[in-house]
Amino acid sequence: MMTAAIALFIGKFFIMANKEEIKLDKLPSHIAIIMDGNGRWAKKRGNQRIFGHRNGVAAVRDTVEAAAEIGIQYLTLYAFSTENWNRPKLEIDALMGLLVQTLSSETPTLLKNNVKLNVIGETSSLPKDVAKQLNEVLEVTSKNTGLLLTLALSYSSRWEIIEAVKKIAYKIESGELKAKDITCDQFTDNLTTARIPDPELLIRTSGEFRISNFLLWQIAYAELHFTPTLWPDFRRDDLYKAILDFQSRERRFGKISEQVVTNN
Ligand code: IPE
Ligand code: IPE
Ligand code: MG
Repeated sequence: MMTAAIALFIGKFFIMANKEEIKLDKLPSHIAIIMDGNGRWAKKRGNQRIFGHRNGVAAVRDTVEAAAEIGIQYLTLYAFSTENWNRPKLEIDALMGLLVQTLSSETPTLLKNNVKLNVIGETSSLPKDVAKQLNEVLEVTSKNTGLLLTLALSYSSRWEIIEAVKKIAYKIESGELKAKDITCDQFTDNLTTARIPDPELLIRTSGEFRISNFLLWQIAYAELHFTPTLWPDFRRDDLYKAILDFQSRERRFGKISEQVVTNN
């Protein structure tokens, strides 16, 4: 008992020390997270997959609050992919129901933390009740000036890239644009993330080492942080660890070490 108490105390000390170590002037402005492992978390406990999704809500709340508190400007959460529509109907229905419920129950947390909600993805394919709830929360948080929380819903990067290509192609068709004038910046402006800077840090939970069709264009130079933690267990300390990992990297952008000015 005593040993457990001491371990808890030491653990807390180190966790706090972690947060203290974060350099606030070198925060990533945009963090993107692939929230994975809900199903496995539930299965480990002998429960249905939806039990894991439900328990993932606390992880979202803690992460959003911590990101807002520390001064992160943009947080993008991969909540439901285009490919996730291929899951069993029962799981999709449960997930959509959970989404409606969570959007409504978490609105006070968003307001308290001055968080503005944003959504990317093919929202037209979402059920009506989800779209309605989503629009409500988008509206009530629209005046907030703190963290921009983007939910990727019915999102996949290849879908987004093709949509951008179509928009550009229409402009060429109409004579508004010449093919030779297409630039990287212009392409970026046609993505659903236009006006949001590229993520500097991408986190994936659950021990998988893949991107699963998330922000492929935008993560060109993101630092990748993979953790074995399953999403429902992810808390602010895991976010701090990821930020510290990010701050320990040398970002060279193709240059050599000597060219990169660091003032650690
Ligand atoms: C992530 O957890 C949530 C969604 C993709 C909606 P999963 O449901 O993918 O859980 P695992 O990866 O099967 O454990
Ligand atoms: C990625 O997780 C999508 C989300 C987190 C919403 P998946 O569980 O769908 O990814 P794969 O199938 O393991 O690549
Ligand atoms: Mg998964």
